[in-house]
Amino acid sequence: MDATSRIERALAAAVARAEGLGGPPKLAEAMHYSVFPRGARIRPRLCLAVARACGDDEPAITDAAAASIELMHCGSLVHDDLPCFDDADIRRGKPAVHKAFGEQIAVLAGDALIVMAFQVLAWATVSRPERLSHLMLTLGRAVGAPSGIIAGQAWECEPVIDLAEYQQEKTGALFAAATVMGAAAAGMEAEPWRLLGERLGEAYQVADDIRDVASSREDLGKPIGQDAALGRPSAVAQLGMQGALARLKDLAAGAVAAIPDCPGAAELRAHILSESQRLVPPKLAAAAA
Ligand code: IPE
Ligand code: IPE
Ligand code: MG
Ligand code: MG
Repeated sequence: MDATSRIERALAAAVARAEGLGGPPKLAEAMHYSVFPRGARIRPRLCLAVARACGDDEPAITDAAAASIELMHCGSLVHDDLPCFDDADIRRGKPAVHKAFGEQIAVLAGDALIVMAFQVLAWATVSRPERLSHLMLTLGRAVGAPSGIIAGQAWECEPVIDLAEYQQEKTGALFAAATVMGAAAAGMEAEPWRLLGERLGEAYQVADDIRDVASSREDLGKPIGQDAALGRPSAVAQLGMQGALARLKDLAAGAVAAIPDCPGAAELRAHILSESQRLVPPKLAAAAA
């Protein structure tokens, strides 16, 4: 089965549990709406690619790891779009969850997706409990305080922000979880995979900053110009467009160089290079080449 089918199947199974008999229908509908139809699924695809490079000996655990990361990501986007954060009206080309379901359900749907991410890991590791704690701790570290998504978002409430730290926490942390959890799901020593994820995550956030300036609402399916409008630290604001493009190129090269030795290293390198080429609008990519 290809990576996309594995990820969509694992996510559908998880969300179906929330839609079980007796639950509040709007909450279940909002959870489904937050996860489907899909965005780029870049984090779970990275997790699967690393697991494959490490042998993928327990595919059900790999699928659960990938799904748990994407559930966290989707939950974080629901909260990020709320009026008290970025006040964004569209996401993935359709009304943001709070626009479609109201703020209360949006807060709760985000919360429930975060909780479900941990449940998914626990359900999948019943027969291999020795793999659970590392997976759970890695995911928690990537999402909580002091250095996960929540910490990254909280820097927006501080008067002084370090751009690299903010981006590392807001975005890099979950990419690092994707690589570490891919290896841990396959039973390999996982920490050597962290640097790859951190570099990819930072590259991805720099690319997002570039797209925020240089892409369109239609192409992205979300508002553009947000960083300037909300006064957020951004690679383009700090380094200029050419500087941001150069930084992205450096980070992508650094990521490829950080792939640990493993049987599937060549295939993984090709996966990462093809993903990183899709990160910036084609016109800019040509200019930066
Ligand atoms: C958006 O993430 C938030 C960032 C960290 C840049 P994605 O660009 O991965 O969003 P989807 O999942 O494809 O919608
Ligand atoms: C969102 O960051 C990253 C999260 C941790 C949720 P942004 O606010 O920069 O991303 P977009 O542009 O809304 O996707
Ligand atoms: Mg934001
Ligand atoms: Mg936002």
